[in-house]
Amino acid sequence: MSKVEVIPSAKRLIESLRDTGYEFSQAVADVVDNSIEAKAKFVKVDVQFAGDDSIVRIIDNGRGMRPDQLIEAMRYGANRTYESADLGKFGLGLKTASMSQCQRLSVCSRWNPDRANVVGYSWDLNHISKTNRWEILALDRDAVKAVTQDVLQKGPGTVVAWEQLDRILGYQHPHGERAIKRLRQMCRDTEDHLSMVFHRFLAGERGCRKVKMTLNDNDVTPWDPFCQAHPKTEVLKPTKIPINYEGIEGEVLIEPYLLPNQKDFETPEQHNAAGGPARWNNQQGLYIYRANRIIQSGGWSGLVQIDEHTKLARIAMSFLPALDDAFKVNVAKMRVQLPGEIRDELKALVSNVRGLAKKKYDNKLSPTIIVGKGASTVSKLSATLVGQGTPDTTTRPPTEHLAGTKVGLRLTMAEWSERLIAVTRPEEECTVRAVIDRARSANMYGNNGDTE
Ligand SMILES: Nc1ncnc2c1ncn2[C@@H]1O[C@H](COP(=O)(O)OP(=O)(O)O)[C@@H](O)[C@H]1O
Ligand SMILES: [Mg+2]
Repeated sequence: MSKVEVIPSAKRLIESLRDTGYEFSQAVADVVDNSIEAKAKFVKVDVQFAGDDSIVRIIDNGRGMRPDQLIEAMRYGANRTYESADLGKFGLGLKTASMSQCQRLSVCSRWNPDRANVVGYSWDLNHISKTNRWEILALDRDAVKAVTQDVLQKGPGTVVAWEQLDRILGYQHPHGERAIKRLRQMCRDTEDHLSMVFHRFLAGERGCRKVKMTLNDNDVTPWDPFCQAHPKTEVLKPTKIPINYEGIEGEVLIEPYLLPNQKDFETPEQHNAAGGPARWNNQQGLYIYRANRIIQSGGWSGLVQIDEHTKLARIAMSFLPALDDAFKVNVAKMRVQLPGEIRDELKALVSNVRGLAKKKYDNKLSPTIIVGKGASTVSKLSATLVGQGTPDTTTRPPTEHLAGTKVGLRLTMAEWSERLIAVTRPEEECTVRAVIDRARSANMYGNNGDTE
């Protein structure tokens, strides 16, 4: 049988890939992924406003690329193998993220620690629409200098530059006040986004190599969704859910937290900051980490609805890229789907955590019940409830759960009921209340339900 190779139209495909759905901040984050993977210790994002000549540069001091590696990196669908903790996936991010924001992407890189040889190439939409060829342009020495502004003189690293920012500025009035304002807002959003998405790298948590980042020379500081440094954050017992997806085995680590109530923050500013970019209500829910980088920040992935009363509940869910197919990670690494086989278990767990969060929000938990004090402690009470299986609330007297309370302390009926309710799961509440009412009416504790 004879074969005919049909090469896609460069012009049409590259144009259509511009609409993968990246926002500016997400596009920057996708390029920063590469810097982190290249073991950069410093990533600098520069946004220079100059009307038509505005430029965005993402500069790193990672390992850089040899000329042949750089050419491969510029390929749509770059060829390479991935290590288990690599952030890359489809060999597309650099190109699709960049071209979603600009018409000209240039990448300059130096790999040799001893020689300041910098090589650069560009994807240029103008050239592509004229030629309709999958062609990149080699940058001459002056063009490289214009892009790098000599930042690669000291050692290896890479500069990614975006020019002709039609999507960012709105091309009709790129000089106007509105364009400047828009760009400023985008920079603020990007700083927030990077703070959140890379917080484990920025803080050097969990064995991540620590990375310093700046955006227009402002330090990007880590935003910890779980307020782990706050003494009133409760760290609940973690759980691992094993998963086997089409023969690939792995596990998902689930770490639930109950955040502090509003009154426990020293200032309204601290409370707002802890709320996060989308604010308290929307930031409740699942924080999905792929190789320690956040892909989803908040929301319940269709398991349950967002609810004001459960806004203190935030749950970290971590998996490694080996499970990408199970989670259906998309090209822009902005969306995942929860694997069907873990949904039920996760839903039960989410329901427990939300029940506790609701009680904390409603101030139903008396202060003595909170065992976990400060970062990295596990609340025994919550651990009982979050661990697999049914919590053992009936066989042990509630007082045994309580820190700072004498075991065997005699309680009034009202106190006893309050504590019993505090350890009750939402779905048990009706039954437990009915039992308490029956105990009251049977006058089990004598006069007025009091023990004395
Ligand atoms: N800043 C960088 N430093 C070193 N190598 C890079 C850098 N950016 C991109 N690369 C190389 O280019 C390849 C293609 O990047 P990309 O298009 O983002 O796809 P992916 O990250 O999914 O592999 C990367 O796998 C990496 O080898
Ligand atoms: Mg990438």
